[in-house]
Amino acid sequence: MSVIRKAVFPVAGLGTRFLPATKSIPKEMLTIVDRPLIHYVVEEAKAAGIEEFIFVTSRGKSAVEDHFDQAYELENTLESRGKIDALKELHEWLPEAGTVMYTRQPAPLGLGHAVWCARHLVGDEPFAVLLPDELVLNDVPCLKQLVDAHTKTGGNVLGVFDVPRAETNRYGILDVISDDGSLVEVSGLVEKPDPERAPSTLSITGRYILMPEIFGYLSEQQKGAGDEIQLTDAMARMIGNGPFHGLRFKGERHDCGNVNGFLRANIAFGLTREDVAPSLKEFLSGLPL
Ligand code: UTP
Repeated sequence: MSVIRKAVFPVAGLGTRFLPATKSIPKEMLTIVDRPLIHYVVEEAKAAGIEEFIFVTSRGKSAVEDHFDQAYELENTLESRGKIDALKELHEWLPEAGTVMYTRQPAPLGLGHAVWCARHLVGDEPFAVLLPDELVLNDVPCLKQLVDAHTKTGGNVLGVFDVPRAETNRYGILDVISDDGSLVEVSGLVEKPDPERAPSTLSITGRYILMPEIFGYLSEQQKGAGDEIQLTDAMARMIGNGPFHGLRFKGERHDCGNVNGFLRANIAFGLTREDVAPSLKEFLSGLPL
């Protein structure tokens, strides 16, 4: 089975749910504890064996590029002040030179369009897509679980999770042929179905392994929900052409793309950090709830 070497990170959205913060700061640079959202997903991709990191950016997103570049002034200052541990840490997570690529999405025409913008950088091989506003807390990183599943099944593999039936009208929902409790075989994708009509309660999350044929479907540039070019629509048209699975990944999913989810993620991730958890717990337990 093919190995997944490349990952696409769409970061060209407007982040309107976080205005006014996102007027001048990319949503993907908002921090969970002390690192930006995009930092977590790049680390997740690395842990899954990804070697090439493709960012789909837009105007106003240069902070994302700077984050993954060397910062001479800062590094010199850390060195001259003897902050060697901080300096070492900065170098540790920096992707190797030549492994990070950027392309631009000229206008925020939708997630499908953003992924399509990466077509020449991806080429003709299966690849991963990670949405930085969804984070998963787990020992085995979410994308690694998908890569392992793909090694067995081949084809497209989507990260999926169960939502309450009453909320299916907020998500892209899978229609499934079989379900072994972990891996499901997908027969269809339905955008935001009413609870009584939803074919399952399994929703797509922000982790995908896609076959390069997706670019052919995306190039049709069909607009869907919200008048945007939706990745879900192109994926739905691919079903039937080769294996298509969903993986109920293990871990706690955090939707950091809205303010409530973002605040919760800060607490959840903070509680996993030895340096932060004790004082955070003390603060939380003292709150008049
Ligand atoms: P979202 O829909 O959650 O992000 O897309 P958004 O549009 O920036 O946020 P809101 O709804 O206005 O608050 C998920 C991911 O896809 C990227 C976003 O940057 C985000 O990382 N995206 C979305 C693009 O790159 N291009 C698009 O046209 C749309």
